[in-house]
Amino acid sequence: MELKGLILAGGAGTRLRPLTYSSAKQLVPVANKPVLFYGIEAMRDAGIRDITIVISPGQPGMEIRKRAGDGSQWGLKVGYVEQGEALGLAHAVLTGEEAIGESPFVVYLGDNLLRDGIQTMVEQFKSSQPEALILLQHVDDPRAFGVAELDGDRVVQLTEKPSEPRSDLALVGVYMFQPGIFDVCRSLEPSPRGEYEITEAIQALIDQGKRVEPHVVTGWWKDTGKWEDMLETNRLLLDAIEPQVDGELIDSRIEGRVSVGEGSTLERCQVRGPVAIGAGAVLKDAYIGPYSAIADGCQIERAEIENSIVLENSKITDLEHRLEGSLIGRNVVIGGQNSKPRAYRILVGDDSKIGIL
Ligand code: TTP
Repeated sequence: MELKGLILAGGAGTRLRPLTYSSAKQLVPVANKPVLFYGIEAMRDAGIRDITIVISPGQPGMEIRKRAGDGSQWGLKVGYVEQGEALGLAHAVLTGEEAIGESPFVVYLGDNLLRDGIQTMVEQFKSSQPEALILLQHVDDPRAFGVAELDGDRVVQLTEKPSEPRSDLALVGVYMFQPGIFDVCRSLEPSPRGEYEITEAIQALIDQGKRVEPHVVTGWWKDTGKWEDMLETNRLLLDAIEPQVDGELIDSRIEGRVSVGEGSTLERCQVRGPVAIGAGAVLKDAYIGPYSAIADGCQIERAEIENSIVLENSKITDLEHRLEGSLIGRNVVIGGQNSKPRAYRILVGDDSKIGIL
C-alpha cells in the first residue's frame, strides 16, 4: 500500500520568538529555502505523493498554506488540517486521522532536517512492515532528548529526557506508523507537562507486544526549533550549495561557494562564501562573510555581515561593527549613523534579543 505523509507544522514555537509571533518557524529559510520545504522534498524523494500538513490556526498556519499551496510546485498533493491547540505531537497526529485513513504513514516534524532524507527508512518500513519504525541517532548528551533502548532490532523502551540515560540513542523527528497508532493516541492521558506525547504512544505499542523497529541515522540531523540550531543548520546547508551567480556584480569580489539570485546587484562588495544571496537584493560597499544567507529583496549598504540569516526585504545600513551570528526577521530596518554622540535608538518586538559585543 502507498505510504502517505503527515508533516507537523503547528506548535507554539516559543523558543523562536519573536519570529514566531508573526510567522511560522517552519517557514524560516535556511540557505534561503524554508525549513518546511526540505521536509516536503524529503518525502517526495522517498516516493510519497499525498501529504497532509498539520498547521496552527491563525496567521502562521495561513502563511504555510499560502507558501506550500496545493503541492503542485513539487508535483504532489498537499492538504491541510488545523490543530486547534498545540497539545502535543500525539494530539497533532490524531488531527490527521481522517486525511490518513487506512494508510500506513510517515510523520515528519516540520522543523527537522535530515541530510540524507528518509528514503532508506521508508524502504525498510515498507519491506518489514512493523507497527512503527523510529529514527534514532547517537548523541553526546542524550539527557536533552527522547532516548531509546534496543534489544537487537527491536525497540524495548523509550524515555523522555532521562536524567540517567541507558543509551545514547536519541529520537529523531521522523516516525512511521500503521494506522493502528490513532487508537493508541486516543487512549493517552496528558503528560506532566500537559502534552499528549508521541513517545508515550510508541511505548504503549511496545507494551502491547507490537513490533517497533529502530533505524539509526548516520548523516546529520538537525532540529531547528532554537535559533542557534537554525544558524548551525544554515551553515551545514551552505557548505553544500552550488555556486551560481545570476545577479549583477559591479566592482565586486566573490570567493568560494556563493549563489546570487536574479535581479540582485552587488556594487563594491566583497563576498566570502559559503554565502547565499536571494533575488532582487541590493548590496553596496558591503562585506558578506562565510555562512550568511541573505533573502530576497534585502538592502545592505556600508555594513558587514557574517554567519547570519537575514529574512526578506530587510534593510541594514551604516553599521560600525560587524553583524555576526544573528537571525534577522523580515522587513527589519537596522541603520547606523556617523554622528556624535553615539547612541542606540531601538524599536524591537517582545522577546527579541540584542547583544552589543
Ligand atoms: P516542538 O518544537 O517540540 O514544539 P513547539 O513548536 O511548540 O516549539 P516550542 O517548544 O519552542 O514552543 O514541535 C516540533 C514540531 O511539531 C514543530 O514543527 C511544531 C509541531 N507541533 C505540532 O504541529 N503540534 C503540537 O502540538 C506540537 C507540540 C508541535
